[in-house]
Amino acid sequence: MRKKIVAGNWKMNTTLAEGQALASEVIHMVEDETNGEVHVVLIPPFTHLYPVHKLIGSLREKHIYLGAQDCSAHEKGAYTGEVSAAMLQSVGVDYVIVGHSERREYHAEGHDLLAKKALRVLEHGMQLIFCCGEPLAIREAGTYLEYVETQLRESLFALDAESWKRIVIAYEPVWAIGTGKTATPEQAQEVHAHIRRLIAGRYGDALAHEVSILYGGSCKPENAAELFAQADIDGGLIGGASLNARSFVDIVKARQ
Ligand code: 13P
Repeated sequence: MRKKIVAGNWKMNTTLAEGQALASEVIHMVEDETNGEVHVVLIPPFTHLYPVHKLIGSLREKHIYLGAQDCSAHEKGAYTGEVSAAMLQSVGVDYVIVGHSERREYHAEGHDLLAKKALRVLEHGMQLIFCCGEPLAIREAGTYLEYVETQLRESLFALDAESWKRIVIAYEPVWAIGTGKTATPEQAQEVHAHIRRLIAGRYGDALAHEVSILYGGSCKPENAAELFAQADIDGGLIGGASLNARSFVDIVKARQ
């Protein structure tokens, strides 16, 4: 059975005190109100990783995990401002996002760089959350399935099958991120099913069946259940709604 995952990507929000308060609130609510079936990932800014790791403590056993929003493609050295996979692993990070559309767009991150980052995450024993998704112009041109295929093929399909045991895919259509315009369950399901077919074509049906594929883009308590009811949507990567503990935990509950 593949994992159900709800991950909260806080992006560049919260001071340390605000982040600790948010994490504590989410952790308590998840413990009190959920059945532990959903893997919950908190993905704060780099500066808050270790303090949030401390708050999570032994709750990993209850499927509450820590994630980072990015990592360097380099192992170590003179790369001012970068954070390496080894550093993330050393502060207790379980999951690392690579290829978020905001990194692709604002930092010109391309397929080859993302392939290197993905490899670093996997080499250091962490789980990879690899984001893909098309901008509005590609959606309107009708070539979004090919676009997403290229993103996955160019950055991930050189990896061996063993590596895929630690890969989660997040489909985040760029036109739905932070816009309030969610993909319909049918639109999301179409792409999720396509992604699973692509993985099956490259690695076989059994492996494809085990890979969790998350939806991201204006996911909120009001629309989460209908998205999660789709056959190939295994959870969500949540931006704005993850900054409110009540909203985020309600999305976790919608995934149970
Ligand atoms: P929103 O939920 O704010 O649309 O952001 C989605 C996202 O980019 C998560 O990584």
